[in-house]
Amino acid sequence: MNDQLLEEFKSNLKENGFSYCTTHRAPSNIALVKYWGKYDPQIPANPSISFTLSKAFTDTTVSFEPSKSPEINLKFEGEAKPSFIPKIQSFVDRIEIYCPYLKGYSLNIETSNSFPHSSGIASSASGMAALAMAICSLEAKLSGSEVDLKKASFLARLGSGSAARSIEGPLMSWGFHKDIAESSDLFATPFLEAHPIFNTYQDAILLVHKGVKSVSSTVGHNLMNNHPFANQRFAQANDHLAKLLPVLRGGELDQFIEIVELEALSLHAMMLSSTPSYILMQPGTLSIIQRIRTFRAETNIPVCFTLDAGANVHVLYPAEHKRRVIDLIDNELAAFCEDEQYLIDECGFGAK
Ligand code: PMV
Repeated sequence: MNDQLLEEFKSNLKENGFSYCTTHRAPSNIALVKYWGKYDPQIPANPSISFTLSKAFTDTTVSFEPSKSPEINLKFEGEAKPSFIPKIQSFVDRIEIYCPYLKGYSLNIETSNSFPHSSGIASSASGMAALAMAICSLEAKLSGSEVDLKKASFLARLGSGSAARSIEGPLMSWGFHKDIAESSDLFATPFLEAHPIFNTYQDAILLVHKGVKSVSSTVGHNLMNNHPFANQRFAQANDHLAKLLPVLRGGELDQFIEIVELEALSLHAMMLSSTPSYILMQPGTLSIIQRIRTFRAETNIPVCFTLDAGANVHVLYPAEHKRRVIDLIDNELAAFCEDEQYLIDECGFGAK
């Protein structure tokens, strides 16, 4: 927003006030090449690429009320949640320099997730993306322009790194990479050249461990500072992305599987070899991985796994194999999940 517009807005605010209420739905995402390690302010140590999901999402309504002493109120699934406010407040403080108009507003936020609370599915990506979209929607209203999706991704990144990739879909890269034009450490960009098979790729999220994980992603990112294998890992992620891009264009699933599974295991290898070391996988995680590999060898069905920073397994497969893969999950894999619970998701197109 330029200075003149800001001045007009301020005087309008003084004279009339200007309330605005907006609702956004933003999905979660699952990285194929993982971001692990960062620098201030939320600059990734290596580039990443992810599938944007569609059924695991956060709905957020923000009512912006003009106020001389702005405050933040928050309801999560209908109930006041003061414990969530400090994180939102520090996000707002952090982005105020890019969104000076926020200084004049109290934010009343109502938010809920499509996935069960404490299911082990992180809501930070979808939650921060939905909030960033709401703020960009206010900005668009004030400036009479379209919502700036690049800015939404930029702001979401400052809330939670991977949230930058939840604004659009089905494939989003974030972090500078020499082979991706327009790639940036500051915001994510859609990868538009993918083979059509990836537009409807499926992701069954197997809930091996519900609830809060023992070591947070924030701690995990920090343990990459002074990690003995950090530089090799960052180089590997760059290399994996360089190899994955032509595979995403051409739809070669054997190579897709090889890179994606290696990425998941490399991420966890970083946890196993950090100081202090830690293990987020559970016995069930490994059993599921072994069974997916056996099933793939026996049937030639191109199903593979990936992991985020937790014990849950994301089972990735082309839509045409849905029935066979769901049978595999019901007959063999669900037994390793807490309460035999899993969620069927698929690629989607980002925030609405
Ligand atoms: O966005 P954060 O800080 O929660 O970190 C996400 C890290 C991974 O999920 C493990 C990888 C990724 O690229 O999403």
